[in-house]
Amino acid sequence: MAKIVIQKKIKAFNKVINVDGDKSLSIRSLLIGSQSYGICKIRNLPKSEDILSTIEGLKKLGIKIYFKKKICFLYGNGLNGFNYKKNITINAGNSGTFARLLLGLLIKSPYEIKLEGDRSLSKRDFQRITDPLKEFGATFKSKNKRNLPLKILGTEFLRPIKYLEKRGSAQCKSSVILAALNTPGKTIINAKKSRNHTELFLKHLKMPIKIIRKKKYDIIEISGENQIKSFNYEIPGDISSSAFFITLTLLSKNSKLKIKNANINQSRTGFIKIINMMGANVKLTNKRNLYGEQLADICVNSQKNLKSINCPVEFNSNAIDEFLVIFLLAAKAKGISSFRKLEELNKKESPRLKLASKILKKIGVKIKLGSGSIKIFGNPKLIVNKNIFINNYYKDHRICMMAVIASLVFGGKWTISDANCYKSSFPSFLRLIKKIGCNYKYSK
Ligand code: S3P
Repeated sequence: MAKIVIQKKIKAFNKVINVDGDKSLSIRSLLIGSQSYGICKIRNLPKSEDILSTIEGLKKLGIKIYFKKKICFLYGNGLNGFNYKKNITINAGNSGTFARLLLGLLIKSPYEIKLEGDRSLSKRDFQRITDPLKEFGATFKSKNKRNLPLKILGTEFLRPIKYLEKRGSAQCKSSVILAALNTPGKTIINAKKSRNHTELFLKHLKMPIKIIRKKKYDIIEISGENQIKSFNYEIPGDISSSAFFITLTLLSKNSKLKIKNANINQSRTGFIKIINMMGANVKLTNKRNLYGEQLADICVNSQKNLKSINCPVEFNSNAIDEFLVIFLLAAKAKGISSFRKLEELNKKESPRLKLASKILKKIGVKIKLGSGSIKIFGNPKLIVNKNIFINNYYKDHRICMMAVIASLVFGGKWTISDANCYKSSFPSFLRLIKKIGCNYKYSK
């Protein structure tokens, strides 16, 4: 298994970059496109592993998809227009978003479909999805009711549901929204705030979806069985991928970075709010709308004097994929930072709260870990000058990228296992790291 070896801190830089397209929007554009009538053209779709799993899965379900001159062409067959053989198996690889959202689109399937995933995905909770989808009328078979592999069988006799989403999970909310598209009548969702790309996408396509925003919850009403017209779309840069480079810049000396065309949807910018509270001073310029989403260029400079934070829990869901790098910033900040109600972080591609705390301890940062909380005792003089080995057992892309950033700003000799797993979400990551000036090596 290839490993990344890094043994030099990054030198001062001043660069402009584009990160790969947003993972959440890429998967949504493909899945919603698969239900539309006609040819969709999707630009800037990343060829990350999660997106390739989505494309392969949809092809198995009879959707024609190909790339021509960097544009993805997808031929939608209309609502529930999947066309496939009996006994098919779809492998979602590492992608929780694809697997969970797809199930919402399969509740009317006439034959059983098997869904499986890699080792990490097979450990994750699917009952949070199968419970509401059963209420629509779908049936499921799996060994322990909770995990992949599972089999789904749909029904002709779907009924709309009332669903309370309490976790702040956009995947649960979106799976139910997609299920509602195929269901007669009105589905009503009361969802704790989480990323709202599915809602915005369907609104942009002028589908009958109503969103009533409350302080902590959104009420979403969708009327089903309305045809979706094919569409053109362009995927903006991923704010979660940007977060690695923003952190790299903040923690490097005398450096400056501009990230162009990033998605700054309010439900995704918890990270920016948190780091600005820590003294980061990130600026968003050239703000504009594109296909119902907000974009901007993100400008950031090094920051020597980061402050600790008592992180407001209302940011948790809007920054859920960024906590690994927020912890690195807290490690270098002055004072004690505290983060609470982060149980969901241990239910990602790996138990991230636990693994992040292990990495922090390895580099000499004092921490106090609870089941869903962490206190980080920041040290503005933090330097690492020993060998650090990162065994990324679950091949978690974000753990790999977190370790690369830590090695470049704190020093030491780092050996990071599963060198290629960053490709799940951010295939250009190492190329951009090199462009910014890092020298890394691969070892066996
Ligand atoms: C995602 C939602 C989040 C996030 C994941 C992508 C989505 O998961 O962690 O990377 O695209 O809906 P949860 O819904 O489990 O919070």
